[in-house]
Amino acid sequence: MALQREKLRWSLRHAYENVPFYRRKFDEAGVHPSDFRQLSDLARFPFTKKDDLRENYPFGLFAVPREKIIRLHGSSGTTGKPIVVGYTEADIRMWSDVVARSLRAAGVVPGMMVHVAYGYGLFTGGLGAHYGVERLGCTVVPMSGGMTERQVQVITDFRPDAIMVTPSYMLALADGFARAGIDPRASSLKFGIFGAEPWTNAMRQEIEQDFGIDATDIYGLSEVIGPGVAQECVETKDGLHIWEDHFYPEVIDPLTGEVLPDGAKGELVFTSLTKEAFPIIRYRTRDLTRLLAGTARPGMRRMEKITGRSDDMIILRGVNLFPTQIEEILLSDTLCTGHYQLELTREGRMDALTIHAELHAGSYAQTDLSGFSTRISKRIKDIIGVSTRVCAHGPGEIARADGKAQRVIDKRPK
Ligand code: DLL
Repeated sequence: MALQREKLRWSLRHAYENVPFYRRKFDEAGVHPSDFRQLSDLARFPFTKKDDLRENYPFGLFAVPREKIIRLHGSSGTTGKPIVVGYTEADIRMWSDVVARSLRAAGVVPGMMVHVAYGYGLFTGGLGAHYGVERLGCTVVPMSGGMTERQVQVITDFRPDAIMVTPSYMLALADGFARAGIDPRASSLKFGIFGAEPWTNAMRQEIEQDFGIDATDIYGLSEVIGPGVAQECVETKDGLHIWEDHFYPEVIDPLTGEVLPDGAKGELVFTSLTKEAFPIIRYRTRDLTRLLAGTARPGMRRMEKITGRSDDMIILRGVNLFPTQIEEILLSDTLCTGHYQLELTREGRMDALTIHAELHAGSYAQTDLSGFSTRISKRIKDIIGVSTRVCAHGPGEIARADGKAQRVIDKRPK
């Protein structure tokens, strides 16, 4: 606590003194870094939002001269201008440390080999994971995403102990193994570190059974650093321990901005404690979760597995729902694979949701498909309370992404 306070004070001052945007925002809100005396004072400081990053594109929020920046990353997002983030040498060292720590919590130990199938490039997944693997003293296989057949061959030939990839692409790899006539359970993999998109405990079971591995969740975002902000421990698999010595979490009511007590669900907000190039103060992630006490690592709080982003929430005839709720229901049915998409259309004045669900090869050939659709749609109605159409698909019919899966296809007129 005392250490966090010291670091927070430094970070607020660093942002205020070196980034005109923060100086203006703090001044407008009538707060100064010297007003920060205890952790609860943080609530007096203004939030930062994604639009603030877009408006300061590309380098407007950097707190050090460009010459001190040794790496840039960014994301294009789904709409509007991209965002750019920068790292000093010390920032890259800290990032490598938190990813190495995450790997260790996931079960990986020095000397193991780790296959990285997150995309390399401006996306933080590939290189962020890569530096952490090296930092832990492991052998890194810098595969990047895509080229499923080649991935299967490399995993089979190199015999890595662990894999880092999006959970949806891990399922595409399971298909790749099947196509190559290899049982994924016979692969060398023991640990999987999955993140960059929401996924459920039902999906965890599916992946763990397919590959015979321990699957844990890794969380992060470009604006805060990249992967390695929080990580689930393999001993407990009960939510993600936040590396609070570098990233201070708050959960707020998304409507009022009020800070909520631990245990209450709301929007996750982060303030960096040690970052030099790109300090970030009270960043609104739009990710929904709650803070819980630490378990496997008692000194750090946990965040519950993320159920969704406020932007992914579908409001269907007045009922709020997240793709992960549908995922859970689909995967509770043994016929379903984890490949699915949700299609939103407008019929007359009403919105309609069609769930495209892919079935396992054997099931698709043998099952009464209309019975299946009726069963799932009834379960959705019972649990979530909305009527939907469920459409069964054969193996390979739902599009695979190399990285983050696109779960929602919105075809409603704008
Ligand atoms: O996705 C960083 C990352 C790479 C994390 C690899 C984990 C593994 P962005 O592209 O900036 O960064 O996207 C960040 O992805 O705000 C969440 O909405 C979502 N996200 C990331 N990890 C998880 C997770 C990377 N474990 C956005 N569970 C975040 C749910 C996640 N959502």
